[in-house]
Amino acid sequence: PQPDSATTPAVVTVTGAAGQIGYALLFRIASGQLLGPDTPVRLRLLEVPQAVRAAEGTAMELDDCAFPLLAGIDIFDDARPAFDGANVGLLVGARPRTAGMERGDLLSANGGIFGPQGAAINAGAASDIKVLVVGNPANTNAFIAAAHAPDVPAERFTAMTRLDHNRALAQLAAQTGKPVDSIRHLTIWGNHSATQFPDLTRATVDGTPALDLVDPSWVSDTFIPTVAKRGAAIIEARGASSAASAANAAIDHIRTWVDGTPEGDWTSAGVVSDGSYGVPEGIVSSFPVTSDGTSWSIVQGLELDDDSRARLDASVAELVDEREAVRGLGLA
Ligand code: NAD
Ligand code: LMR
Repeated sequence: PQPDSATTPAVVTVTGAAGQIGYALLFRIASGQLLGPDTPVRLRLLEVPQAVRAAEGTAMELDDCAFPLLAGIDIFDDARPAFDGANVGLLVGARPRTAGMERGDLLSANGGIFGPQGAAINAGAASDIKVLVVGNPANTNAFIAAAHAPDVPAERFTAMTRLDHNRALAQLAAQTGKPVDSIRHLTIWGNHSATQFPDLTRATVDGTPALDLVDPSWVSDTFIPTVAKRGAAIIEARGASSAASAANAAIDHIRTWVDGTPEGDWTSAGVVSDGSYGVPEGIVSSFPVTSDGTSWSIVQGLELDDDSRARLDASVAELVDEREAVRGLGLA
């Protein structure tokens, strides 16, 4: 059950805890930024055996912060105990693509991670478990995990596109010279990959349609590719993939899920499709979504023009390909 008193800690399981996103994420969770200032948290860290020692080092630093809300830290190299009683699962650890690795190899390696983690969530997580998959390919990893958790409602498995959403907010704010919080109704559709569709067609800035404020060629030639390829640009510049911004987006995603979306706005998240907008049922795709504090709902009734439809279809085709590859490998 959802912890409902200040004395009952929420159990938050973080995989890949010794990685760079983990390092940017754990201190914020322990300080109360994930679940708010009234909810103590018990952290359960999952790592591969060779990184357990590094996770222990991070746990020592967490202790040294003397966070009043941190009720305890446990470290595991086995998914079953790591997800036991979990209210929130942040699935960050994944197998990165390395030189010479084919896409099938990558999916297969990740299937070996997210299948057992989905099964562990099925076996022992709390009945209100909320799962966010960050590890790439995030949408398909969430699809794999959900497929291994038949007793958990599929809607509890989500994939992170909030970083793409935040990147899009920042780009539009910079271009219009307006603050990010003046922007509403921006959407990331599809896969967390270069095929994603960052969509401004319904976005407003201070109530004015964004498309009245920016040039159409800026949208197609600059905005969409900049947002869609931002992950690669960060890797190019930093020599490592985004970490603090990814951790920040993970916090935002869970925070919105449990607090609900603000009145009059939506956000973007990878959720299991119910067939909305022609996205095949069961695929984990990014949509415009609202949360009521418990469940995400896909915003209904938006008309997609031909350009939007083609962009969404291209990203969904990639997700369908990934699903077929995963099925072909017997991973889901
Ligand atoms: P990292 O390599 O620094 O850390 C990953 C950690 O995961 C490592 O410590 C590794 O030991 C651990 N790990 C591997 N397999 C595991 C398993 N089976 N169980 C538990 N832990 C395991 O990587 P990072 O920079 O922290 O990024 C993590 C993932 O997040 C990558 O897949 C990255 O591509 C992805 N990412 C996603 C987004 C997004 O927007 N969705 C953004 C940035 C990064
Ligand atoms: C990002 O969007 O920053 C990451 O998903 C990039 C990556 O490939 O890890």
